[in-house]
Amino acid sequence: MKQYDMYVGGQDRAADGGRTFDTENPFTGEVWAKIAHGDRADVDAAVTAARGALEGEWGAMTASARGRAMTRLADLIEQHAPALGETEVRDNGKLLAEMGGQTRYIAEWYRYFGGLADKIQGTVIPTDKPAIFNYTRREPVGVVGMITPWNSPLLLLAWKLAPALAAGCTAVVKPSEFTSASTLEFVRLFKEAGFPDGVVNVVTGFGADVGAALVEHPGVSKVAFTGSDLTGQKIYETAARGLKHVSLELGGKSPNIVFEDADMEAAVMGAISGIFAATGQTCIAGSRLLLQRSIMERFQERLIEVAGAAKMGDPMSPDTHVGPITTPPQYRKVLEYIDIARKEGARCILGGEPARVEGGTGDLFVKPTIFTDVRNDMRIAQEEVFGPILSIIPFDDEADAIRIANDVDFGLAAGVWTSDIGRAFRMAEKLDVGTVWVNTYRAVSYTSPFGGTKRSGIGRESGMESVYEFLQTKSVWIATETSASNPFVMR
Ligand code: NAI
Ligand code: MG
Repeated sequence: MKQYDMYVGGQDRAADGGRTFDTENPFTGEVWAKIAHGDRADVDAAVTAARGALEGEWGAMTASARGRAMTRLADLIEQHAPALGETEVRDNGKLLAEMGGQTRYIAEWYRYFGGLADKIQGTVIPTDKPAIFNYTRREPVGVVGMITPWNSPLLLLAWKLAPALAAGCTAVVKPSEFTSASTLEFVRLFKEAGFPDGVVNVVTGFGADVGAALVEHPGVSKVAFTGSDLTGQKIYETAARGLKHVSLELGGKSPNIVFEDADMEAAVMGAISGIFAATGQTCIAGSRLLLQRSIMERFQERLIEVAGAAKMGDPMSPDTHVGPITTPPQYRKVLEYIDIARKEGARCILGGEPARVEGGTGDLFVKPTIFTDVRNDMRIAQEEVFGPILSIIPFDDEADAIRIANDVDFGLAAGVWTSDIGRAFRMAEKLDVGTVWVNTYRAVSYTSPFGGTKRSGIGRESGMESVYEFLQTKSVWIATETSASNPFVMR
């Protein structure tokens, strides 16, 4: 049995009294590791360490030196990516092909933002005031509390940590209680990359105590969170009491919209990748498939053919398409929504039940499931399930598609399938979401901003602009000629 300590101030840290909690492998059902069960005292120690680094060695480093450390980290990530990927699969049951790809890919975030570190500049502003020089400084916002979910632990951390480090911030990370191991392995690379102790700290435990303590801590200046909209809302409320900065990347109910002029086979594959990849456990899941009425029957037939042939099995095996659901509560939630959809009158045309799978305990498998005749006002069309359940909703024309697509509380992403270039531009403009994919789905990169509108969140991650989420601007005025002016009026 593996045992993982927390990591604070460059040191291993066991929880008070050696308390631990179990982490399970969703495929085998086995407890495979014990994780330090932290509390408020650990959060306090981690924030103190992060503040010490910010005001000490890290804060004194040049931006170029910070960037070089990040580049060295990127190289180390590449060496360790296969092992980190396997740890993620062991903990969240997603495919090795996906998690291994992600752990390799995150090196690019640290490289990109490492390169950006010494290109963050203030400006000299020609003001209307004579004999005063005015310029701005871009300064790190401070210690950032980062709270991550279980679906892509290290990728979603990279989206926060890489721009934060480039900005000169330090961090305390609280990974999901279901998948803490990969973050605890990853953080041990920072010392070797040459980061001073305390720049990145990891505390582990549950959301309601360790997570909440981190958000409340007066030494934390900003909270960066990915997870459910309800937890995001709670964090926003708590952060408001301390007037902290927040960025929130919450869920979605993203539409994949297929017009009759689309390349049918490409759209079928896109619809499947939107919902059955990652067993639907991704914030960008294309969980609503909007089909133009004229192609509905043909499209559904092909969809059932391809999705019905998806192989469920061991996520470590290269020929598996669909793995288990990550956690028992999530499994129960998925089954509950299948029930809800049936009761609402949606018609199940594929799956709709648990599956048994050889090799593991098989306890957390749900068959790829498709409901049709879904109305957009049903709960199955409005609420995030986070599982392999697709809702098909028909539409008549472009205006109808836009109306249905935007008629949800979320606004994370949307897919559009069409061969009409004008329509592609019109849809991209009218969809109220943070990301639009045309004739593709689930493309993300360190180069391009990602985030949501409405209940999908606040702020953007990745791309140049995300670094500003971790900076604040100071305006400096320097008189070039001193004169004693009237003290009773504004200058
Ligand atoms: P969650 O949003 O409750 O948990 C995410 C993170 O927040 C975890 O690290 C957790 O420990 C922490 N947390 C929980 N309560 C907290 C609090 N009061 N203060 C501070 N931190 C807190 O997600 P959970 O329970 O794991 O999954 C529930 C649902 O969330 C899923 O069914 C899915 O719909 C959605 N979800 C969305 C994700 C996304 O990528 N947008 C990722 C994971 C889940
Ligand atoms: Mg686990």
